[in-house]
Amino acid sequence: MPDHSRRVYDSILELLSGEDNPTPLVRINKILAPTRATFYGKLEWYNPFGAVKDRIADNLVRDAEERGTLGEVTKLVEPTSGNTGLGLTMIANAKGYSLLSPLSTMIPLEKRAVLRFFGADLIELEDTLCPAPGAPEGAIAKAMETAEDPEFHMLNQYENEANPQSHYLTTGPEIWRQTEGKVTHFVAALGTCGTVTGTGRFLKEKNPNIKVIAVHPEEGHDIPGVRSIRQLKQTKLFRPEEYDQLVEVTNREAYDLCLRLNREESIIAGPSSGLALVGAQKVVGDDDGVVVVMFPDSIFKYASSVMRHFPEIYENAAGASESGPPMWVEDLIESSRNERDTIEIAEAARLREANETVFIDVRAKDEYAAMHVAGAMSVPTQDLTTAKNLPESRETPIVTVCNRGNLSIQGMLLLRSVGYTNVRSMNDGTIGWNDQGLPTENGS
Ligand SMILES: Cc1ncc(COP(=O)(O)O)c(C=O)c1O
Repeated sequence: MPDHSRRVYDSILELLSGEDNPTPLVRINKILAPTRATFYGKLEWYNPFGAVKDRIADNLVRDAEERGTLGEVTKLVEPTSGNTGLGLTMIANAKGYSLLSPLSTMIPLEKRAVLRFFGADLIELEDTLCPAPGAPEGAIAKAMETAEDPEFHMLNQYENEANPQSHYLTTGPEIWRQTEGKVTHFVAALGTCGTVTGTGRFLKEKNPNIKVIAVHPEEGHDIPGVRSIRQLKQTKLFRPEEYDQLVEVTNREAYDLCLRLNREESIIAGPSSGLALVGAQKVVGDDDGVVVVMFPDSIFKYASSVMRHFPEIYENAAGASESGPPMWVEDLIESSRNERDTIEIAEAARLREANETVFIDVRAKDEYAAMHVAGAMSVPTQDLTTAKNLPESRETPIVTVCNRGNLSIQGMLLLRSVGYTNVRSMNDGTIGWNDQGLPTENGS
């Protein structure tokens, strides 16, 4: 047993948190409306690899080892929204495994860059911010397909009971001990739901009166790591019957409180911490109590999200000007997700019927051949500025299409850059089009 008072360790893995080595609870003193309750943030970036997910990364691997499900396998595959991948890569490095992670290009560049730096092998795919289990071509499907190869094992954080169990074994006992059993409310944002389910279960066993509050973002949110109600239905560890309340929080509320946590409390919390704290405040109201709120990650991996939400802070930063180009290409793409530059499927379908609009599928040729919007032409993004078969008139109405409406934004921007003035990107892509039963074709 390491002596945590001296903080001298034989291995980085000894720093993983647990009852004897809890992540800190820090009181929120300034930014909340006057309340009788005492609010604490549980600072999960004090885990050795930087976020709450280190807990499950350790337990998922340990559980598989103990059950013997890994056998001789040393290659792990796991779809991730970032933090699980970061924790798992480091556990894998320490224990002699490798990690392959299919993930969405919507995940902040910061996380994808660090994952590669840590040594993870990434397959970057067009997917939603949180991998969508039902999507045939998404990160989860890709991981499952890879796991069919006997050389690989998928731990599956979305279904594996070792995920909530890690919180039952560590987060719950930590909070019980740190508050000397006085905790009245436990509040966590929902991603895989491992945190709220496992910690909530432990605390309710200790005292059934403790309120377990689950916080989720609004539909269409852009808070990495967490899921809206619609996205949650796909997560097997979402157990609403075990929570006392579900609370919805908007993007604006979450990012605003995140900023105030950093600026006024000097707590370097990320956006999902802001989300959870807003939810906590909404539920606790005038009640008395000791409220523990999970702060899953620090702010540092979310610079690009923060820049999108607070453009005014970055107006005079190097490379940016009030009307000039945004600082990052990513920013440009994000700022194009608006009604002027994109088009909903229903309207695109009407335009297609009217037969005056050119549909350009910007995906790779093989994806186009597998299925495309009926009548769409194929011009992969890399060919868009040089292709010879583009419409002659630069005023031709064009709709760009991809799988889900991400790559098609780049396509729209590229076409505009070569002078096409009437181009929009179709939201929800070929997959959404097909889901709505609209006509598709295959073949090249
Ligand atoms: C930043 C962040 N916040 C919140 C969560 C939600 O935690 P859980 O998956 O245990 O529900 C995650 C999970 O990935 C996360 O990365």
